[in-house]
Amino acid sequence: MLPPLAPEEQSHSLRLAAHIREALAAAGGWLSFERFMELALYAPGLGYYSAGSVKLGAGGDFVTAPEVSDLFSRCIARQCAAVLMRTGGGILELGAGTGRMAAALLTELAAQHALPERYAILEVSADLAQRQRERLACLPPALRERVVWLERLPAQPLHGVMLANEVADALPCRRFRFGAGGLSELGVVLDAASDGPTTSSTPVRFRDGAVTADASLARAVDEILTGLPEPLPPGYTSEVCLRIAPWIDALSACLARGLLLLCDYGLSRRHYYHPQRVSGTLRCHFRQRAHDDPYINLGVQDITAWVDFTRVAEAAVGAGLEVSGFATQAAFLLGLGVEGLVTEAGAGIERTRLAGEARRLLVPEEMGEAFKMMALCRDLDIPLAGFALQDLRHLL
Ligand SMILES: C[S@@+](CC[C@H](N)C(=O)[O-])C[C@H]1O[C@@H](n2cnc3c(N)ncnc32)[C@H](O)[C@@H]1O
Repeated sequence: MLPPLAPEEQSHSLRLAAHIREALAAAGGWLSFERFMELALYAPGLGYYSAGSVKLGAGGDFVTAPEVSDLFSRCIARQCAAVLMRTGGGILELGAGTGRMAAALLTELAAQHALPERYAILEVSADLAQRQRERLACLPPALRERVVWLERLPAQPLHGVMLANEVADALPCRRFRFGAGGLSELGVVLDAASDGPTTSSTPVRFRDGAVTADASLARAVDEILTGLPEPLPPGYTSEVCLRIAPWIDALSACLARGLLLLCDYGLSRRHYYHPQRVSGTLRCHFRQRAHDDPYINLGVQDITAWVDFTRVAEAAVGAGLEVSGFATQAAFLLGLGVEGLVTEAGAGIERTRLAGEARRLLVPEEMGEAFKMMALCRDLDIPLAGFALQDLRHLL
């Protein structure tokens, strides 16, 4: 059971539903799921990330690793320090959420005398960018003055580190199904009950609508199948994010030398498209509850899909980057000495608190296994401690 919407959430949701209904009508009655997800998350002023709901943190819909504990960001800071030592330059964080990771990273890098020349943030959500500004305004001036917000990727390629924690899973994806008639694309149509005239308070309902897959989707699914050890059963439904490659291309074009570090929940392809994962990985998050109905709570719930890290790796190689590491979050944090950060807190209540946070980040039943870290490098010839404990051949 999901909690009911507050009245203002209800009216927000109705406004977004009406907007999507118009887009659906303009498109002839069918929208790809990718377009639906784009509108649900990013429609100006209405989408989940474009409007004012709390989103991240204990009072929001979901909690990310930087929100669970600064231990996560302090470990990332150690990895950044090693890279910055070699490359100089700065850090660019994509999709910085509440700004908590930026604050913790800068604080740790200052403690290690390894501050970047500049800490740039590229954030598509105006609402979250405002929260980041408020949070980072509390930093000491020597740190605060290094932070800048960008409207687009920098024209001048970066030396240093690019970071994206839980951004790839927020890129809109397409959905497919193997049916009796072959491969189809699952898009979005209006539910029959919503066919009539509507008023501002009439609920509009959407549902899955299957059409024959077009050439781009068919090619992508073919490529997926080619790399799998066994065929997928009839009825198998999943998703594929065709925006990964252009996104990685764009990021690669901005990296002159250094590390692009991606953190997200995801799998290598053969695990992602496992025959037993018959319904895919699409998930919605609303007030700390996960469910799989993207057509409810429009604009007030997050919609995500896990990341196919093989797709990321292929895109990176295609863009001229080296895939230098792939590790579970647990292996990454242990490689960077997270245990030491807990033990150095002494024996009191602070240590107990940190140990609890570390547990949440590390154990497989929580975030330790499902979340992965991938290192994509250009012209960087240093060992990366975060990837020392895991051999990427076993994972890809
Ligand atoms: C799930 S939240 C993660 C926030 C933060 N990184 C964290 O871990 O707490 C996704 C973030 O990515 C941002 N975002 C989504 N698409 C983006 C894109 N193409 N470029 C940059 N940021 C993006 C969202 O606005 C949001 O800040």
